[in-house]
Amino acid sequence: MTTHRTRRAVSTALMSAAVLSGCATALPHDLGGAEPAIAGVATTPPMGWNSWNTFGCDIDETTIRAQADALISSGLAAAGYRYVVVDDCWYTPTRDAGGRLTASSTRFPSGMAALGAYLHARGLAFGIYAGASDRTCAQLSGTYPGATGSRGHETTDAATFASWGVDYVKYDWCSSESDTNDQRRAFVAMRDAIRATGRPMVYSINPNSGIGLPAEAGAAAVPGAAYDWGGVATMTRLTNDITAQWSTAAGVAGYQGVLDIAAASASASAEVRAGRWLDLDMLEIGVGTTLTEAQQRSHLALWAMAGSPLIAGNDLTRMGSATRSLLASPGILAVDQDPSAAARAVSVDGWTRTRRMSDGSTVVSITNPSADARTVVIDRTVIGTQGSVTDLWTGRQIADAGAPVRVTVAGGDTAVMRFR
Ligand code: GLA
Repeated sequence: MTTHRTRRAVSTALMSAAVLSGCATALPHDLGGAEPAIAGVATTPPMGWNSWNTFGCDIDETTIRAQADALISSGLAAAGYRYVVVDDCWYTPTRDAGGRLTASSTRFPSGMAALGAYLHARGLAFGIYAGASDRTCAQLSGTYPGATGSRGHETTDAATFASWGVDYVKYDWCSSESDTNDQRRAFVAMRDAIRATGRPMVYSINPNSGIGLPAEAGAAAVPGAAYDWGGVATMTRLTNDITAQWSTAAGVAGYQGVLDIAAASASASAEVRAGRWLDLDMLEIGVGTTLTEAQQRSHLALWAMAGSPLIAGNDLTRMGSATRSLLASPGILAVDQDPSAAARAVSVDGWTRTRRMSDGSTVVSITNPSADARTVVIDRTVIGTQGSVTDLWTGRQIADAGAPVRVTVAGGDTAVMRFR
């Protein structure tokens, strides 16, 4: 963990180096059109696990297989977490004679096709990371050698991934170049290359990495929050990287806390619907010791209310029972996986969110960002329903039809209720 954090501190400096270009305002809000980027994938938000938040560059096939095994033995695969995503640092630092990416022979001696087969044999799906510019983020920050970014190699790399049985491509900007037209061209090139393979791979992009922000700009100024990339990618990262904290001074360090990302999601430009999801970033549940249990509950609840992909980032082989049951929370996962439109903030301070579900019920979440407990009386006329109310953490009914709804929310916690 210590080495991982040190590495991430290096990339922070790079991210702060550039300033978001002002020319972006001339672009249309919708960068990709109405059709989902890749047909037939992710009709609900993808769920899975990714290596980065815990392991950083310290990955190999033994680690990834052990995480896949733990996904199954913990019951999280059965709860819906199926994509196993190998993040940065899996590859040889130079392309082979044919211009192809190859797996590091020391880290992944069996090769990526074998890893894909291992995952598929267990009913899991295979995700892999690549860079949209000249370098991946680890190469940009100098923590991994080489320059194997996919720019100019999109067709070859998409074909390589398809031949390995990849089901999910994470495609990361990793450049201080901030012209949104260039970003659109680069991300569309890989989208089209994925389409051309004929293999339905989830296309996950992050347009924010490497683009620094002036301290006063705030998380909502990053390209992922300013545009609708839904026709370009299956899922688009909203902000710069999450870190396992409740809140950071947004934009200053190039990292955002749980509350910062959730706040940015309320004003994001994207239209969230099937096959075009807004990605609030990988989960920090069970990572480190900074987030309280209540804050971790808020993390899951706010991601679920936004219909974000849920990609766990903790070490599944050492997960405690509290982390396991939080990640598996059936009532909250059902909200995330409901194909209805994402939550829209309704209250003045933005921490009450409502979402109309596909069965006609309304889910309301109330987050308490402060340290002290608060009691809230819900105005049913604002929510627009007099129906009975169920607490989605416990599954228990907490108010009869028409009865007043009064909830006490602990500091850092989020109440999530379904109104029939
Ligand atoms: C960027 C991404 C992270 C991770 C790292 C890998 O920072 O936003 O999610 O993929 O690159 O270097």
